[in-house]
Amino acid sequence: MTAQLIDGLALSRDMRAQLGQRAAALTAAGRRPGLAVILVGDDPASAVYVRNKVKACEEQGLHSVLERYDATLTEAALLARVAALNADPAIHGILVQMPLPRHIDSHRVIESIATEKDVDGFSVHSAGCLMAGLPGLRPATPYGCMKLIESTGLDLRGKHAVVIGRSNTVGKPMALLLLQAHATVTVCHSATPDLALHTRAADVVVVAVGRRNTLRADMVKPGAVVVDVGMNRNDEGKLCGDVDFPAVREALGPEGWITPVPGGVGPMTITMLLVNTLQAAEART
Ligand code: GUN
Repeated sequence: MTAQLIDGLALSRDMRAQLGQRAAALTAAGRRPGLAVILVGDDPASAVYVRNKVKACEEQGLHSVLERYDATLTEAALLARVAALNADPAIHGILVQMPLPRHIDSHRVIESIATEKDVDGFSVHSAGCLMAGLPGLRPATPYGCMKLIESTGLDLRGKHAVVIGRSNTVGKPMALLLLQAHATVTVCHSATPDLALHTRAADVVVVAVGRRNTLRADMVKPGAVVVDVGMNRNDEGKLCGDVDFPAVREALGPEGWITPVPGGVGPMTITMLLVNTLQAAEART
């Protein structure tokens, strides 16, 4: 018997249906939630991501604006667009798709987004709120991972969670969200000498490295929950995560849980962006 699947598509569908109702209520009150997405350059993967984000907004009745600019856009021009959106009452969330062209300082752009419209949760203010345990907008990917873990029915209190990866967008906020849920958290990364030593003891493993087969069958405990944030291509060009999925699923046994790629974390990231946009719209008085 293999581990049960954590179905991110099904959870997304349920959550988005509820979001649609909240959006309709706000719209009826004359406060239709609005998201602005800015894409600079022509990276094909980024173009797909932003299209999916805008499409998800439209499906749930949110107002959405997609602004696309040539890779030669100056930083000053981008900052001016963000300033205009900060002042636009129809827009409650602003997302500037990363990565930006090298001549633009991403940090400066992120910090220029109004705090209350930072639906990516990437600003120093949002990160500080998470760190301090204060309410605020949480980065969508780790926030979605928390919902996936919750959906298994696991109570994180006192459990040992291992996060592999220490990025500002996933690994670090993930560790803080798990801490807030009373887990004992270990953060592993490229300089961790013996990864398996940690993962074998873990009740929950979140892998966010960007390298396939980072988590293998001999590295997990039966009954654990595994969340795979990775998005890679295998030798056949097929989408795969950071986990050796078939072997790890087998090793986890019938009491274990695992997210597939695709159909796990990916759809939840967009769902949580919508959650954040609604939260931002509802907070606007
Ligand atoms: N690029 C890849 N993922 C993301 C994300 O969640 N937000 C932004 N702004 N850019 C990204």
